Amino acid sequence: MKLYIIGAGPGDPDLITVKGLKVLKEADVILYADSLVNEDLMNKAKPSAEIIKTAGMHLEEMVDIMVDRIRSGKKVARVHTGDPAVFGAIMEQMSLLKNNGIDVEIIPGVSSVFAAAAAAQAELTIPDLTQTVILTRAEGRTPVPEYEKLADLAKHHCTIALFLSATLTKKLVKELTEAGWSKETPVAVVYKASWPDQKIVRTTLERLDEEMRANGIRKQAMILAGWALAENMHEQNYRSKLYDKTFTHGFRRGVEI
Ligand SMILES: C[S@@+](CC[C@H](N)C(=O)[O-])C[C@H]1O[C@@H](n2cnc3c(N)ncnc32)[C@H](O)[C@@H]1O
Repeated sequence: MKLYIIGAGPGDPDLITVKGLKVLKEADVILYADSLVNEDLMNKAKPSAEIIKTAGMHLEEMVDIMVDRIRSGKKVARVHTGDPAVFGAIMEQMSLLKNNGIDVEIIPGVSSVFAAAAAAQAELTIPDLTQTVILTRAEGRTPVPEYEKLADLAKHHCTIALFLSATLTKKLVKELTEAGWSKETPVAVVYKASWPDQKIVRTTLERLDEEMRANGIRKQAMILAGWALAENMHEQNYRSKLYDKTFTHGFRRGVEI
């Protein structure tokens, strides 16, 4: 007995994985967060499938339905936005399901962080500039653990991807500035990455809050901050070792010059 947890991807229905789509098509029951997952994906379900919207449900209500349908022999899929492993709140579902003797199979998805990077045509890890990406969120009503304050994380001066932070930009700018980030640091905000109404706002740390307000962005936004987001990055001369002709590695011998 198991529940399938599927990553739906960031919005564009073509960005679900082949495996995720296969399970979605076979499922007898599909539960999905209608506030975030693209409803068009539900057109791929078989006509007899029971489709349940979960945006208005609490955890126990949702899990009770899953347990009931799985016990009656149905194939049940729970569809999450992006990749379920990032801010997906799947562990609490898994925990209640396991108490009921039900296992899970997780099928990953394209996280909004990568859809946003694609939209901004960015490489988040530029050789010699930054080799680290921190996935986090600004602290709002939900606290973050003591050692994960943005001002501390930002001391690494790497790329930072901020989920769930569209209404917290004032605070975010303050913390990054406290960590020594320059006011000119590039920031790319991608609203509804991969949706037809996707919007990309390129700005600087100093202007971020103002631009968010001017563009009316208050939700469904990925904020990518750091020098890897510089708009003219392709004109700069950063080169990887992987494709450096003088560099020898497991698949290629470097040439001497
Ligand atoms: C509850 S989290 C879920 C994240 C999801 N598991 C993922 O991997 O993208 C919701 C947050 O993800 C980000 N998000 C989700 N979909 C997005 C999209 N299409 N474009 C931009 N940001 C998105 C926003 O920051 C939003 O507040």
